[in-house]
Amino acid sequence: ESAPPVVVAIDGPSGTGKSSTSKAVAAQLALSYLDTGAQYRAITWWMVSNGIDLEDPSAIAAVAGKPEIVSGTDPGNPTITVDGMDVAGPIRTQEVTAKVSAVSAVQEVRTRITELQRALAGSAERGIVVEGRDIGTTVLPDADLKVFLTASPEARAARRSGELKGSDVHSTREALLKRDAADSSRTASPLAKAADAVEVDTTELTLAQVIECVVTLVQEKQAGK
Ligand code: DC
Repeated sequence: ESAPPVVVAIDGPSGTGKSSTSKAVAAQLALSYLDTGAQYRAITWWMVSNGIDLEDPSAIAAVAGKPEIVSGTDPGNPTITVDGMDVAGPIRTQEVTAKVSAVSAVQEVRTRITELQRALAGSAERGIVVEGRDIGTTVLPDADLKVFLTASPEARAARRSGELKGSDVHSTREALLKRDAADSSRTASPLAKAADAVEVDTTELTLAQVIECVVTLVQEKQAGK
């Protein structure tokens, strides 16, 4: 007999190892995987490409339903397309990174993307690991397990500047703290820890240790069902 599907929400700010952890946990437990930040980046990329005025929330809201965003949920090969075009590369540019907070603060954008997220989570046969900022609080409040990853700003900046070629730790730290502040202070489902989330401080942990910790939490939930 097969286990009931398990839904895992992993939230936290950038540089906490959220993506690497979520992908590895999903792969290890043969679950689907969804990077919700990639969806917000994809809609932001489309707005930039189409010359939408990102200073004007009503201009963003007016076209929030236009691009077709499709996420592939295989943790070994997560894909993202906009109107059929592979945008995995273009969504990681500094320009998109700098503009994504403004776009993701608009309620019409969040409503649209949240619908996509719930549909994917509901159709994952064995279950899914969904990573983001508001998954445990807003998107999937009934998730079987909620994890909130944290780390000191220094650790997060060091990890991020290791990922981005040619960037120094200090400017990375400033940009990262600025984006966190914007994501945490917006009115539409801000970055927040759900009351029933398990908080894991990754500052002193290796990636392998964080993965092991979350895998164990999921297995405990599965055994308790
Ligand atoms: O995880 P990331 O850095 O790729 O996310 C990019 C941005 O998308 C982040 O600055 C905030 C936004 N985001 C969001 O508002 N809600 C989510 N569930 C995930 C990301």
